[in-house]
Amino acid sequence: MAEQLGLEWMDGDRRRRLSDDGLERCLPEGVVWLPRAALGDEARLLLDLDAVLRAAPCRHMTTPGGQRMSVAMTHCGPLGWVSDRRGYRYVATDPDTGAPWPAMPASFQRLAGACAERAGFQSFEPDACLVNEYVPGARLSLHQDADERDMTQPIVSVSLGLPAVFLLGGLERRERPQRVPLEHGDVVVWGGPARLRYHGVAPVAGGAHPRLGRRRVNLTFRRAG
Ligand code: SIN
Ligand code: FE2
Repeated sequence: MAEQLGLEWMDGDRRRRLSDDGLERCLPEGVVWLPRAALGDEARLLLDLDAVLRAAPCRHMTTPGGQRMSVAMTHCGPLGWVSDRRGYRYVATDPDTGAPWPAMPASFQRLAGACAERAGFQSFEPDACLVNEYVPGARLSLHQDADERDMTQPIVSVSLGLPAVFLLGGLERRERPQRVPLEHGDVVVWGGPARLRYHGVAPVAGGAHPRLGRRRVNLTFRRAG
């Protein structure tokens, strides 16, 4: 892991870090937090996000157990993750329209590749970008990202809009999650020994973001196929 932002040291299996903003980041091996890393080309990113959302609007999927998810989702790129009564899987077309998912914008690909590289994962080429939309009160319960084929590839997660508390758990569900406060433009990369860590999002608090309004949007980049 080659995080360039500041002073780093190991404390047991915890990677501790003093960032440029003076905050100490204590994250497990294989997890890198890049505050505000998505803001370099923010205007382009938000325009491209808007186009993706117009082409394939977010929708609430159903869990295999029949519950409506509070997070609304859509995708861009060759593959998109869907959940319904039959289970979870990656598919090449939007089940609402039968059309291919919108292409992954070049700005998204550049950002994901650059952040993966900063975290020590070279040549990351995502084929799936999950777009999660959280209104205040929406949450994502602890889960593992385990439906992808190649577990050597990291996950790159980009937070936009309202702040949220990312819950970073262990390799077993019962481990108590660490609370990571994410803001607009923050990126978290996890891979290697952390690839299968449980994670989720605490209920998003109320408020309005100057650019995105009353919502948090998260982009999750993965190599799925
Ligand atoms: C996810 O795990 O799919 C997204 C996490 C997030 O919204 O921060
Ligand atoms: Fe996830």
